[in-house]
Amino acid sequence: MKNYDNVVIFDHPLIRHKIAILRDERTSMKEFRELVEEITTLMTYESLKDGVLTTEIEVKTPLETCTQTVVADNSIVIVPILRAGLGMVNGVHVLFPSARVGHIGMYRNEETLVPETYYCKLPAGIEDKLVLIVDPMLATGGSACDAIQLLKDKGCKNIKFMAIIGAPEGVSRVAESHPDVDIYVSTLDRCLNENGYILPGLGDAGDRLFGTK
Ligand code: PRP
Ligand code: URA
Repeated sequence: MKNYDNVVIFDHPLIRHKIAILRDERTSMKEFRELVEEITTLMTYESLKDGVLTTEIEVKTPLETCTQTVVADNSIVIVPILRAGLGMVNGVHVLFPSARVGHIGMYRNEETLVPETYYCKLPAGIEDKLVLIVDPMLATGGSACDAIQLLKDKGCKNIKFMAIIGAPEGVSRVAESHPDVDIYVSTLDRCLNENGYILPGLGDAGDRLFGTK
């Protein structure tokens, strides 16, 4: 895959370690869920290094008063793409407990792989916030592209997208369709198979998170 200015691929030993366990077919649903949250927290720390609204406050230490920088309340909205994106919400909330949550429901048609939007509920005022879309899997990129476009159509101007595993073709598609959106992917896999699954991947993230298979 070529390099894109708006794509960051994490190459961190701690994240790589957790992803190795996440992929393993023997990993239980409970452990899978916990790992998705932990990886998301590690990714959030890095992804939100830039662009987070901060404000200054006065803090009185036992010795003197000083001016300190804190994250502005209610400045971030997390938008999981249902279902699998739900598994990442707590991982962001650990670091940004006041973040509101909008939901976009999308389901990939198994034959055409084209996503269909079946639900959308977003917090009021989202257009002025930093919007962090989360979905563990970026395969063809169709779901990510449609979710980003939906949010842009609602007026959102500051959007980041975070996925745990990406396929090169999907990452390129999103990067080229939305050059103004920062894309963070923990690891880049080899390719998609004929059914649109990422190889080596981890299987169906929604099924593994919620035990539906
Ligand atoms: C999965 C995944 C992404 C999408 C990625 O969801 O969570 O949303 O596929 O594929 P794409 O990049 O080719 O669009 P799925 O449609 O299987 O729904 P689910 O989360 O409800 O299982
Ligand atoms: N969605 C998943 O859950 N897994 C894949 O490999 C591709 C799309």
